[in-house]
Order: sequence, then structure tokens, then C-alpha cells
Amino acid sequence: MFKVIIAIGADHGGFILKQPIIDFLKKRNIEVMDFGTFDDQSSVDYPDYVQKVCKAIIKKDADTGILLCGTGIGVSIAANKYPGIRAALCTNVDMGRLSGQHNNANVITLGGRLMDAETAVSIVSAWLDTPFDNSEHSRHKRRVGMIDELDKRYINQEIKQTKTGGCQTMQRVFEFDHPLIQHKISLLRDKNTGTKEFRELVSEIAMLMAYEVTRDLPLMDVDVETPMGIAHSKVIAGKKLGFVPILRAGLGMVDGMLRLLPMAKVGHIGLYRDPQTLEPVEYYCKLPVDANERDMVVLDPMLATGGSASAAIGFLKDRGISSIKLVCLIAAKAGIERINKDHPDVDIYCAAIDEVLNDHAYIVPGLGDAGDRLFGTK
Ligand code: RB5
Repeated sequence: MFKVIIAIGADHGGFILKQPIIDFLKKRNIEVMDFGTFDDQSSVDYPDYVQKVCKAIIKKDADTGILLCGTGIGVSIAANKYPGIRAALCTNVDMGRLSGQHNNANVITLGGRLMDAETAVSIVSAWLDTPFDNSEHSRHKRRVGMIDELDKRYINQEIKQTKTGGCQTMQRVFEFDHPLIQHKISLLRDKNTGTKEFRELVSEIAMLMAYEVTRDLPLMDVDVETPMGIAHSKVIAGKKLGFVPILRAGLGMVDGMLRLLPMAKVGHIGLYRDPQTLEPVEYYCKLPVDANERDMVVLDPMLATGGSASAAIGFLKDRGISSIKLVCLIAAKAGIERINKDHPDVDIYCAAIDEVLNDHAYIVPGLGDAGDRLFGTK
């Protein structure tokens, strides 16, 4: 395997191995994305670091990853929950070599309480230097192919798997279960809710959703002088954010998001359906100049067939934007499947999932036409 950029993450138990491995990688001119943790003084939760490393690989910001905890076990279990990740727990050099040759491992995991830094570096070196047996009739290739098939089989399954923070996680879909959001969604669905209240609710729900959508923003350490002394604190680091409402209903979500993230930039994209081909056509697109350096969040209250959202995401990708999330209020299962299929790298965040679409592609029960209800045009 040709490894160029390696993402690394550790909890307090694996921290001791992190810097020696980074030093070794840098000597080999390999670029390293270091997702922390940055000291071993406080007890942290390894799934947080696993998420950062795996997401970097899934989004192709990094080619492969190294995860470290006390034993290497917790991080390997967590990493293998992510589609496309093949994480191998290695305790000796042979395992490092074979995880490359037999398993095409794109992540290796090591235990800081089970080995010294020299052994860890030797394992990393063996993994890096052993290519996958990719020959035509390779049994290893066949077996890794079977693992990839498992990913595909389960990626669209609508199984609520784990509860993280305030949302239920499905494969690439986060359905928010916070009582405030659920309450406001019920008010929004009510046909007797008038335009003013509807608009306020959309904005409030968007603001509450922004909290979870930004859960994986990277942090960096800062020292802040308080009136009483120095606090070792954290601020948001790295990539910047942008919102892209799909015209026109997506506009209703912008204010709420900006209330929590006032520094974000806002682009706009407008689509119409070609009456002949029925394909979405872009009629307007204005994005921040540095959009491809930002995490861009596409906003559209209703994910029905997924056609426009998929096209909008495609148009953003055509402009070189690679980090994209989709936030909607109500998503139909068909729309989720469409986005998962067309853009498996894009996470979907929604406040409710509805079963069906009617013949006119409206979500049922849904909430009606979000654009009309927002702007009082019907
Ligand atoms: C943390 O104390 C420890 O449980 C963790 O580093 C890891 O060993 C879990 O598998």
C-alpha cells in the first residue's frame, strides 16, 4: 500500500507512543495529521479520537491511520465500526507485516501499555513497507473483497446502532433525538402552525442541530489568563465552516446556524428540474472564494427523493469541495438511500425520518412544502 498522509490519534493510554511514531514518520517524509490527545494528564475517551482519524480517512484527507490506546483493543473495536476502515490490532512486527500483506489494513492500532516505543515504531515500519498481496488470484484479495461487500451490505441498513451525544447514529445518518428538537418538529408538522411561527421554529431547530453537526470540529490547546490564573483551555482549530442553503427552503435554516456559528460564510445554490430530462439543473451558485478549504454544510429542510440534494452536493464536489455534510429537518428513507449511494462520504443530519413519498415526491406525513410554509406563498 502506498501511504502518503497518515492520521494519528491516541487516548491517554496510547499517548506515550504517539510522538516517537510521529518522529519516525516525519523522518520518512510522511505527512502526519495529529488528532491528539496532546498530553496524558487527563483521562479521555478513545472513541473521540477514533472518530477523527477514521473520518479523515473516509473523507480522503488522510490515506491511512494509526490509533493508540492502552491496549490497542478499544480503538480497534471502535475503528472497525466505520465503513471502509480495516483496523488491525498489532502486538508484534509479524502482525504489522501481515496486516499489510494479508488484510490491506488501512489503520493499525497499538497499545501504549503493552509495548515500548521502539517496538511500536518497528511495527509501523513493517506495516508501511509490506504491500498488500493484490495479485490477480490472491486469496487475500478475495477475502478483503468479501469484507468490503459487508460494508456495502450494511451501509444502507436502517439500524439504529449507537447512541452518541444527542443523536442516534445510523450508517452515515444522524437522527437527532433531543426532546427540544422533537418537540419543535411536532409543532412544525402541525398544519395549523402559521408562517411566522413556522419560520421561527425552523430557525430554532437549525440552531439546535448546529450543536451536533459541529461535534467533530478539531480543537487546539490554548492558555487563557483568567482573573485567578492560567487555564489550560481549548479553542476550535483547523478547517473553517461554510453553509450552503439550497434555494429557496434552505434559506430558512441559515439564521439559526449562524446564530451559533457567526464566523461561518454562506454560499447559495439554486436548482430547477429540467422538464424534459427531469434532471436537476443549477441556475445559481455563489460560494465563498475559499469554499474548498472549508467544511461545507448543505442545508435543505426536506430530503425527499434526494435528487436535488445529491445534485447540489455533486455541483459542490465539481468545484473542488471535498468536505461536505447535509443537514435537513425531515428525511425520507428514499432520500437517505440516494445520498448514501451517490455520496457515501457525506454525513446526513436530520431531525426526523419519515417512511414514504407520495406520487408527487412529497414526504408523508412530512410537513408539506417547506418553502411555501416558510415564505407564506400558499
Ligand atoms: C484507558 O484507560 C484504556 O481503557 C484504553 O486506553 C484502552 O486500553 C481501551 O481499550
